[in-house]
Amino acid sequence: MKSLSNKVVLVTGSTAGLGKAVAFEMANKDATILLHGRNPQKGAAVLKEIRDASGNSKHAYYNGDFFSLQQVMPFGIKYYLKCHM
Ligand SMILES: NC(=O)c1ccc[n+]([C@@H]2O[C@H](COP(=O)([O-])OP(=O)(O)OC[C@H]3O[C@@H](n4cnc5c(N)ncnc54)[C@H](OP(=O)(O)O)[C@@H]3O)[C@@H](O)[C@H]2O)c1
Repeated sequence: MKSLSNKVVLVTGSTAGLGKAVAFEMANKDATILLHGRNPQKGAAVLKEIRDASGNSKHAYYNGDFFSLQQVMPFGIKYYLKCHM
């Protein structure tokens, strides 16, 4: 995979399993990652892990349970603002 520097990538479901592996692989290619999961404690731990592994403090974590449409909307707004402000 070519360098992803200057790219901001939202990886939904990235605090475990496949999503986490994709997030770390893209961080390894210099992308800034917006992690996502539904457990804030787990999210904070994975955020620290990916920041430490990549040396990039710009990675961030977004919390939201996508089973709930009430949580999907504010998640979308926060993501939009992050990418357009
Ligand atoms: N972006 C994606 O499309 C994506 C990403 C990952 C996995 N998946 C799919 O999920 C299945 C299992 O994958 P896996 O075994 O690798 O991982 P997994 O252990 O099942 O975890 C997957 C990730 O999804 C999150 N997640 C699960 N249910 C969620 C919900 N209702 N709202 C928000 N986040 C939720 C988990 O967050 P918590 O740790 O907070 O529970 C975790 O970060 C597979 O079918 C895989 O294709 C899809």
